[in-house]
Amino acid sequence: MVQDTTALNRRMTHFDDRDSLWLFGYGSLIWKAGFPYLERRPAHIRGWTRRFWQGSHDHRGTPEAPGRVATLVPEPGALCHGMAYRITPETLRPLDVREKNGYLREVTTLFFEGGETAQGLTYIATEDNAAFLGEAEPTAMARQIAEAHGPSGPNRDYLLNLAEALEALGVEDPHVADLARRVHAHSPARTGPKPM
Ligand code: SIN
Repeated sequence: MVQDTTALNRRMTHFDDRDSLWLFGYGSLIWKAGFPYLERRPAHIRGWTRRFWQGSHDHRGTPEAPGRVATLVPEPGALCHGMAYRITPETLRPLDVREKNGYLREVTTLFFEGGETAQGLTYIATEDNAAFLGEAEPTAMARQIAEAHGPSGPNRDYLLNLAEALEALGVEDPHVADLARRVHAHSPARTGPKPM
């Protein structure tokens, strides 16, 4: 199921009057920026946890066989580590299109190493969006990720690239690590070189 959130996001005018703003990435935005940025720094946000509970009908799956990609779900006390990018407001336009399958811009506080904070945006696909899949048995989620494929490539590459990027950042994410282990066990070979 698909619901295009581009128009909803375009109505959000937060930060439009600034020269630059911080965008927090926790999924593909960590390992595949694909947009211009002024600066990039590891950061975390609070009260959210990363889960492969969002369906991908447009990038890592198809409407008939959706993949599973990351979203954030609320969890009091949780920290989600990722990458922050300082971007110009115009950069949000193509990002709204990239994240159109259910993700909405959310204003959040970013925490940087050293204790600095900043207000910024992140894209979250909440449970009321049409493409939300929710939790499933880990084995079933891993099988779906191992088998799905969409216009942006195999779903397994999304997961394994994210697992590698988190490891490189020194971030432990048991949910991602467990799915990556299960996907490796399901089909050990990678499908090709890491896409840029
Ligand atoms: C993000 O990476 O911050 C959003 C989800 C995605 O594009 O994978």
